[in-house]
Amino acid sequence: MNIAVFVSGRGSNLRAIIESKILAGLVEVVLVISDKSDCGAFKIAEQFNTGTAVVGKKGISFSELTKILDEKKTGLIVLAGFLKLIPAEFVNHFENRIINIHPALLPSYGGKGMYGHHVHEAVFKSGDKISGPTVHFVNSEYDRGAIISQKFVDISKAKSAEEIASLVLQAEHILLPEVVGLFAQNRIKIENGKVKIVSLEERRS
Ligand code: GRF
Repeated sequence: MNIAVFVSGRGSNLRAIIESKILAGLVEVVLVISDKSDCGAFKIAEQFNTGTAVVGKKGISFSELTKILDEKKTGLIVLAGFLKLIPAEFVNHFENRIINIHPALLPSYGGKGMYGHHVHEAVFKSGDKISGPTVHFVNSEYDRGAIISQKFVDISKAKSAEEIASLVLQAEHILLPEVVGLFAQNRIKIENGKVKIVSLEERRS
């Protein structure tokens, strides 16, 4: 399956997808898209000879990007640290084919303004003993699409928000490729707005 990855920063999740052993032969990253013309993730894309595109004020429009992604027969779009809001037409066009990784256990610590260090600082302040990433479908509301999968991380010994961020990031690098693999194997179903992961045998029914 051809996939596209949206990024705004460092790109460690992009790297986790590209280097994932479970995804080898299952998916190919055909385009890396950013709202910034210069970001760490683009360096990773370059290193792996993956095409890049800039969208938004500094680049092409979302409707131009839609055409390109359709031409490339993109089956899945992964938001991995993309910080700009995705227009509704784009979300509708790729309905149930856009997923996002969020660095906390949704529905807590989500929504507008809850990104990057803001999330981990709020978790640290709360005194929560567990945190962890969530992968969910993207709809028109920030962080509110159906949850696909979550990973629990013990943060009871973490002494700072930075420490929580680093623990959660390690879990992200496992969770995101896992979910991309399930999607590529057609094992993620949505029933009554809830996600069900089906076995390899069940997926045809
Ligand atoms: C990750 O923590 C992800 O959960 C969030 O943005 C961060 C992106 O990190 N949405 P990276 O660019 O993949 O290293």
